[in-house]
Amino acid sequence: ADIYAPERLNSRGWDLHNTHDVDQLEAARLPYQNHVWDLRSKGGEQVDVFDPAAPQVLVGKLTYMTEAQTHEAIARAVSWNVSAAERGDVLRKAANLYEAHFGELFALLAREAGKTAMDAVGELREAVDFLRYYAARSVELSAPARGIFTCISPWNFPLAIFTGQIAGALAAGNGVLAKPAEATTLISLRSTELLHEAGVPADVLQLLPGRGDVVGKALSSDARIDGICFTGSTATAQSINRAMAANVAPHAPLIAETGGLNAMIVDSTALPEQAVRDIVASAFQSAGQRCSALRVLYVQQDVADKMLTMLYGAMDELRVGAPWDLATDIGPAIDAAAKAKIDAHIKIAQHEGRLLHQVSVPSEGHFVAPSVIRVNGISDLREEIFGPVLHVATFAASDLMRVMADINATGYGLTFGMHSRIDDRIALASRTVNAGNIYINRNQIGAVVGSQPFGGEGMSGTGPKAGGPNYVARFTKPEARVIAH
Ligand code: SER
Repeated sequence: ADIYAPERLNSRGWDLHNTHDVDQLEAARLPYQNHVWDLRSKGGEQVDVFDPAAPQVLVGKLTYMTEAQTHEAIARAVSWNVSAAERGDVLRKAANLYEAHFGELFALLAREAGKTAMDAVGELREAVDFLRYYAARSVELSAPARGIFTCISPWNFPLAIFTGQIAGALAAGNGVLAKPAEATTLISLRSTELLHEAGVPADVLQLLPGRGDVVGKALSSDARIDGICFTGSTATAQSINRAMAANVAPHAPLIAETGGLNAMIVDSTALPEQAVRDIVASAFQSAGQRCSALRVLYVQQDVADKMLTMLYGAMDELRVGAPWDLATDIGPAIDAAAKAKIDAHIKIAQHEGRLLHQVSVPSEGHFVAPSVIRVNGISDLREEIFGPVLHVATFAASDLMRVMADINATGYGLTFGMHSRIDDRIALASRTVNAGNIYINRNQIGAVVGSQPFGGEGMSGTGPKAGGPNYVARFTKPEARVIAH
């Protein structure tokens, strides 16, 4: 196969350091700066959507589906019975349509999901990459589709993960019932329209916006579902698993990408400027609302003071504010409830005298102040704090094995980072720490489709890795047909 064929290359994206690209981006999204999307339909609850950075500003109107409509959709669902080549062509057409509509998608990502321009660029690229990469995989499959998949996606990558799950299931020839996160339903409605426009038949891909306890519940406890693809919290994955075992076919697959308690180890040989740059990106980009984000930094005690002083200086340069502004580095939390939960965690640390540093943020909007909190170790954390909060512990060189054992003891295994110039130490950490994605001397977010398949182990996910060669195959039904002549 031609590895340079267009469908095998990653999307070029938009370069925010290039004035031509920036002008093009600004012009394309401008018509949507004050637009109110009216995507209401027949159904149940009418919902108004507000901007997380300016909660009094209306962004759109939509309708949630009822339980009865969900059952009707399940009854209507069909798998995609066309050739793999044809499916691939439609998915590639969808990728092109996503790129052609970049202005509207960037605007929606900023105004509904609070994504900065840098985040929106990365997100659209990833969605387009998923479509093209899985399209290329479809023709390599040797097994048939399973049937009908439920795809339940999160608000933190409302375009990329939403599209990736659907594209994986469709590439294999399944029908899809997609349940988007409540917080980012407008984006899912527009991208589903683009997928239909590209040629995915209406009954092959049905979008079911609505509440988890209505639509999500119905879609994960119906015997007509042949598998579920879910990205979200570990606890929700466990409850889906139980619902499936009780109601869906006994061994229907659950493909789950869940949480993480991700660590980075920085030893005394690390290059401080490089480490600080990568810590800031890993912990604070996307306001820490990535499952891959760095939560606990272990810094070797000999260099801790110097490293942390530099880190605080770098944090003070961060611009937290409206995601529409190209100068903004960090946008808001997704909603008031998310902000309240993260703020409560920071407040406890502050009361206990463990808040080491904090950046100021606008008072309007669901902004959370990027914060650094002292901990003794990763075991101080009971759960993933899904926001711009970095926990820091120090360690002595002789404690390295214990630190890695503590990281493994969390039971999660999503991303792990290390900054060191010592090859043996890097090799030791790489084979000792249980994590799906290990990043050395760089940041630990932003996996790239095709070259960095993404997904965790243990409590962090079931595999197969998204954007990797085995993903689409998991949506098929492996069969051996042995014919003697
Ligand atoms: N795939 C994303 C990343 O690598 C996380 O969901 O950051």
